[in-house]
Amino acid sequence: MRKIAVAPVTLVAVAVAAVLGAAPNVEASSAAAARGKYLVAIMGCNDCHTPLKMTEKGPVPDETRLLSGHPQDMKLPAAPAANGPWVWHGAATNTAFAGPWGVTYAANLTPDTNTGIGIWTEEMFVKTIRTGKHWGVAREIQPPMPWPAYRNATDQDLKALYAYLRTVKPVKNLVPDYAPPSETKLASR
Ligand code: HEC
Repeated sequence: MRKIAVAPVTLVAVAVAAVLGAAPNVEASSAAAARGKYLVAIMGCNDCHTPLKMTEKGPVPDETRLLSGHPQDMKLPAAPAANGPWVWHGAATNTAFAGPWGVTYAANLTPDTNTGIGIWTEEMFVKTIRTGKHWGVAREIQPPMPWPAYRNATDQDLKALYAYLRTVKPVKNLVPDYAPPSETKLASR
């Protein structure tokens, strides 16, 4: 008996919550994701985080690997030595970079759990860009990731970037680890 009496009240409460609370939240988060998509487009994240593929018209971003970072199946030879006036080099995909900092590979920014930023919280993401440290606490993020510029974005915009990145297709792609100069094999020249 009691259950029957309570149920309609609960249903009404849920319905009211949906109208007053849940629905605007969904809208707010999709508005943030839309803003994030715009920011990714103008801040050039795809330039380094989406691999280029060669076509008849020249290199174009590989949309099937959107924001998935340096392709795990692309094996690179040793980087050229970083001396002389030309001190840095980039791979054909524009996802791997060699210079005085060692060798860096653009990270997988898709929400894949094990190889992307699937387990990252919004707070970790914001802290990472703000501090230039992996997960906001660990090793320093190396060039050419332009975090010293992006750290000037508002919290709201950094959260919007995160909201959009949650919506892109998860791509399983394990990006190689950063190799500091001491571990970088250099080609002789
Ligand atoms: C000029 C190239 C370039 C651009 C543009 C770029 N990135 Fe990166 N990004 C990199 C590289 C390279 C790394 C790996 C750096 C390292 O391993 O130290 C990286 C790493 C990251 C990481 C991982 C940091 C970590 O803790 O592991 C995040 C998050 C990230 N980028 C987000 C972005 C976002 C968001 C944008 C656009 C707003 C962007 N990047 C634009 C090159 C770039």
